[in-house]
Amino acid sequence: MTPLVRFGVSLEEDLLGRFDEHLKSKKYTNRSEAIRDLIREELVKKQWQEGKEIAGTITVIYDHHKRELVNKLTDIQHDFNGIIISTQHVHLDHYNCLEIIAVKGRPKAAQELADMLKAVKWVKHTTLSMSSTGRNI
Ligand code: NI
Repeated sequence: MTPLVRFGVSLEEDLLGRFDEHLKSKKYTNRSEAIRDLIREELVKKQWQEGKEIAGTITVIYDHHKRELVNKLTDIQHDFNGIIISTQHVHLDHYNCLEIIAVKGRPKAAQELADMLKAVKWVKHTTLSMSSTGRNI
């Protein structure tokens, strides 16, 4: 762990007031932790924009009774096996499945995989959670 550094920040009183209200609603107990998270948020965004190695998850909700759909989703995932590090399948109810696909690699490939899964007919919902490998943030 690198040493902690203190630095001063000047900003408008109103803005600080709104920030403090925001921190309270987000359950932060101090400004430092909230500012650390904001900085990391920006750094992770930058990693995605600059094509650095990233990690994240893709969540897919679909009806497994559509047999062709299940094969299609599996085919797509096999084409992206270089970035998929894990998958978890949850049977939500009689019809609906939730699949969580963990990815690590290039942002472009992760985005492309999410887009391809989303575009499959009968897929009900897809999200891509853009996170980080935890390095350099
Ligand atoms: Ni299922």
